[in-house]
Amino acid sequence: MSATAHKTAPLPDDIRGRKGGDPLVSLTAYTTPMAQMMDDHCDFVLVGDSVGMVLHGLPSTLGVTMDMMIMHGQAVARGLQSAMMVIDMPFGSYEESPQHAFRNAARLMAETGAGAVKLEGGAHMAETIAFLVMRGIPVMAHIGLTPQSINTLGGYKVQGRGDAGAALITDAKAVAAAGAFAVVLEKVPANLADQITSDIDIPTIGIGASAGCDGQILVVDDMLGLFTAFKAKFVKRYAELGTQGEAAIAEYAREVRARSFPGPEHIFADQAPGKG
Ligand code: KIV
Repeated sequence: MSATAHKTAPLPDDIRGRKGGDPLVSLTAYTTPMAQMMDDHCDFVLVGDSVGMVLHGLPSTLGVTMDMMIMHGQAVARGLQSAMMVIDMPFGSYEESPQHAFRNAARLMAETGAGAVKLEGGAHMAETIAFLVMRGIPVMAHIGLTPQSINTLGGYKVQGRGDAGAALITDAKAVAAAGAFAVVLEKVPANLADQITSDIDIPTIGIGASAGCDGQILVVDDMLGLFTAFKAKFVKRYAELGTQGEAAIAEYAREVRARSFPGPEHIFADQAPGKG
């Protein structure tokens, strides 16, 4: 495709306008090559704070910093032309006050070129969401299993089962009313995800939720089989790149030890070809 033939990336309002339409497609990305690979296939790409666990080997997302998000956001931005980029606000960068959230969200947007930020939390974050949106920062909300609250949620459990579902419906309505343009529903029962999807007028983006959501997101390293420390039930592996990569590395090691790599086609003669 020529440089001028690229479609332009959707804006948050375009994403909002897809409510009830064709499902929105989304993945996470943390690097330029991954972003390039998904640019033509995704409506938006999330620079998720999952980067901490997936690329940096952290035990949770709590250790992810603003500087890490900015560095990965800049890398992803270099790989995107057609998909909108959303960037996660890391733990500790937005919870304290709407003003603190604004300063960090503005920095993330200015230094990475992201089209929107994502933050975790429901009704208790509504004031902050409204504060950011009123000041020009589009916000994607994230409710259900919110990994930054893992220590108060007591683990990576399904959220909103039984009577707890009512609180999640309240959260979804609160973030929509505050001006979020979409909301991620993570690890919630499918019937609750369907109920929320019909109750609110912004797109729901499911991860471990329901095929009835307005869109889906997965962590790219999970779906490509590159992150193998554990596999959540909601992850479908579309490839096994981790296994393939390890086999390739083992083959390389065997060939180096056998002196069969590099072969004649990988080495240089003393004289360039064609020179007498
Ligand atoms: O950080 C992340 O990758 C996310 C997705 C799982 C939605 O928040």
